[in-house]
Amino acid sequence: MSSSQVMSQALRAKVMSAEDAAALVEPGSHVGMSGFTGSGYPKAVPLALARRIEAAHARGEPFRIGVWTGASTAPELDGALARADGIDLRLPYQSDPATRQRINAGSIDYIDLHLSHVAQFVWFGFLGHLDVAVIECAGILPDGRLIPSTSIGNNKTWLDLADRVIIEVNSWMNPALLGMHDIYYGTRLPPHRKPIPIVAPGDRIGETTYRCNPDKVIAVVETHAPDRNTSFAAPDDVSGAIAGHILEFFEHEVKQGRLPRNLLPLQSGVGNVANAVMAGLDDGPFPHLTAYTEVLQDGMLNLIRSGRMDLASATALSLSSEAAIEFNREIEFLRDRIVLRPQEISNHPEVIRRLGVIAMNGMIEADIYGNVNSTHVRGSSIMNGIGGSGDFARNAYLSIFMTPSTAKNGTISCIVPMVTHVDHTEHDVQILVTERGLADLRGLSPKQRARIIIEKTAHPRFQPALLDYFERACRDSAGKHTPHLLDESFRLLRPE
Ligand code: COA
Repeated sequence: MSSSQVMSQALRAKVMSAEDAAALVEPGSHVGMSGFTGSGYPKAVPLALARRIEAAHARGEPFRIGVWTGASTAPELDGALARADGIDLRLPYQSDPATRQRINAGSIDYIDLHLSHVAQFVWFGFLGHLDVAVIECAGILPDGRLIPSTSIGNNKTWLDLADRVIIEVNSWMNPALLGMHDIYYGTRLPPHRKPIPIVAPGDRIGETTYRCNPDKVIAVVETHAPDRNTSFAAPDDVSGAIAGHILEFFEHEVKQGRLPRNLLPLQSGVGNVANAVMAGLDDGPFPHLTAYTEVLQDGMLNLIRSGRMDLASATALSLSSEAAIEFNREIEFLRDRIVLRPQEISNHPEVIRRLGVIAMNGMIEADIYGNVNSTHVRGSSIMNGIGGSGDFARNAYLSIFMTPSTAKNGTISCIVPMVTHVDHTEHDVQILVTERGLADLRGLSPKQRARIIIEKTAHPRFQPALLDYFERACRDSAGKHTPHLLDESFRLLRPE
């Protein structure tokens, strides 16, 4: 392993093993780690910490920490620490099976936050004090500034506020990343806030590196490992149909003069369906696309590489292994076309509203009135978290939610009478899409919405029961604005 990516002499003196660095984290600490949708997370210190925690538990000594990140990480971080029973509190988003299981079993407390809120929550001390930051970087410059790696998330905030800092320098990361990032240092707290001066997705308003007080750095650990790099499924009939409905809708809106020919800046959520929509856009009639999004997946990278998309702003990459290799190979071309920003800026409500973003996010279920559940199964078990979906949906020009019409091999309808948990209210949901069709809810009253949601988006197997529920609810609650039969709204369509 080379230390050539640690160019600061002062910080080179602090290079040590992951085990020695992990030994500097005290039980009970709040630890702010880098990491966002499986990219840019520390690869070695969390694993060493998990081993230390297991050893402490074997001796009968309690050892758990609070883990704060940008968003989801990887098995080497969330998975290892959860399996070691080393996490007492997790925030603001996760998607790891071992962590999810422990959250739902009650052994990890979880705070599911809008991702744009996290930095100010920490600045104001709502979450307590941040003891240690563990941040992955692509390199350290001679003057001690840090070259960010493949995600930014909350790293700037962690570096600013933590008492002590551990830096992982990952030599797998291309140092030519330098110049892709835009770290904004102009954030002020109320009542001193100023407008965020972004008026186009590609505007650069900050610095290309992180500032870091070298006196706070207690360890530098060298690693050489790729990101989680999850593969995406090739678009199937269902995701292809969802993408098709959305593209047709865009064409319609362009014809109506409600969208320009190159659309508006796109935000695309995580997962295979979102990726399929991006793949569809590559064959579509819209030139010079842009994105103001949270995560940049393979589909969006391909749009940039094919010249269909001029530019994308995000806070993190989330690429397959193959796409990560392409990204590294073409980094000189991509550096001017991708801007990675802190998540408080990538997800900033003010900027999203100003740019008129088109938000497209996945969901677990929607109800017949357009309320959306993105986070909970059967009202109680968390899946992942709200992530940035609320930041975007609430403030977008167009707020689109999409899902297959059924889950679990067709046994569960994703269109239900009443969602068992609400993340996005009817007021923040304008378009619902399944493989069956697209329901445009703009300008419709609740009862009008119910008819169109059932007709356009529900699976035919569940349509009669949904329609029957709605019509009986209308009869039984004549004169009501949003008719429901509360004693049966959660029983219907929900097999044990
Ligand atoms: N009832 C029960 N389970 C359901 C369900 C329903 N109505 N709908 C989906 N599921 C289950 C699926 O079966 C699957 O379970 P499995 O992992 O055991 O197979 C899981 O939920 C994920 O569903 P999937 O169809 O694979 O969809 P996805 O990968 O597109 O994820 C969300 C959907 C909602 C979980 C995901 O989009 C998410 O976490 N969203 C919230 C955060 C977000 O929107 N971030 C982007 C903002 S920038």
